[in-house]
Amino acid sequence: MKILLTGGAGYIGSHTAVELLNAGFDVVIADDFSNSSPEVIRRIEKITGKAVSVYHVDVADEKALEGVFEDNSIDGVIHFAGFKAVGESVKIPLAYYRNNIGCTLTLLETMEKFGVNIIIFSSSATVYGTPKALPLAEDMTTGPCSNPYGSTKLFIEQIIMDAAAARKELTAVLLRYFNPVGAHQSGLVGEMPNGIPNNLMPFISQVAVGKLARLNVFGNDYPTKDGTGVRDYIHVVDLAKGHVAALNYGVKNPGVEVFNLGTGIGYSVLDIVNAFVKVNQIEIPYVITDRRAGDIAECYANAEKASRLMGWKAGLTLEDMCRDTWRWQKNNPNGYE
Ligand code: UD1
Repeated sequence: MKILLTGGAGYIGSHTAVELLNAGFDVVIADDFSNSSPEVIRRIEKITGKAVSVYHVDVADEKALEGVFEDNSIDGVIHFAGFKAVGESVKIPLAYYRNNIGCTLTLLETMEKFGVNIIIFSSSATVYGTPKALPLAEDMTTGPCSNPYGSTKLFIEQIIMDAAAARKELTAVLLRYFNPVGAHQSGLVGEMPNGIPNNLMPFISQVAVGKLARLNVFGNDYPTKDGTGVRDYIHVVDLAKGHVAALNYGVKNPGVEVFNLGTGIGYSVLDIVNAFVKVNQIEIPYVITDRRAGDIAECYANAEKASRLMGWKAGLTLEDMCRDTWRWQKNNPNGYE
């Protein structure tokens, strides 16, 4: 099967490309490289020993995207392309709606035109909004989201469900990621945030490598075991394998299905810092600061549905996440440059 990955050169897309190639799928990547590097393609090929077809296109550009479908007999799509910076989405919401929703519409229209009937969508646990209960299960209510980035994920889920209701041949698997961290064990691909990282693990690894002086721990007065925020961190390689499972599931089970991709385990900010220090034998200076606006105390998945229906379960540990993050950061202090 030949699978198109929109945004396939990004953090999660690149790891998914590796797992798809390892599982015997052919991979076509469409990426505008606005937040990724062409070097990632070489790395994917190095890890897998397989070739990837790459198109430097904006997925919202209908003519360019049609060219990709004309050149390749695409059997299914995994849709990662989109802007993803929470803070930026608050400042330029219209650009987020235009880009994330626009490229999804173009993609769905092009898929219909070319008779491509399966889409896996890169959604987020952020669609649950403030958790009403924990752990979060797929049948719990969604929204409202605390930022436009999250709203684009929620709206795109709805758009895909509406498209699938109207066109019965369309199968969709919506994957709600919890907090992806870590990097491929080879140390060749990983996450490279633009500028100062917003997310915890990239921030810690940049402190470790000496690019940042210390970590700010955003609040230690939450109603959690040590007062710091609790999240469900999932190794990006487990997450990538979740996409392979979702594709195999979708091929056999037409219709629309939603899955959480998490471990079901919540770790606090200090759990992460302590594990990173212990596993990598490196100091992470930190200070406790005020809470970050919009943050919630706790968020973790009920991961049972993905295990029951897709036979997928996260297998890597917090130690693996910390070790692999550090290997990637240490070997590539300036990312793919
Ligand atoms: C954030 C986004 C979420 C997005 C996800 C992608 C917000 C409010 N939410 O989730 O929409 O889907 O990233 O991975 O931005 N922390 C610190 N110091 C830091 C950074 C983070 O203490 O420098 C703490 C946070 O307060 C939180 C935890 O670490 O308790 C995780 O934060 P982060 O990695 O930013 O992820 P989320 O906020 O869960």
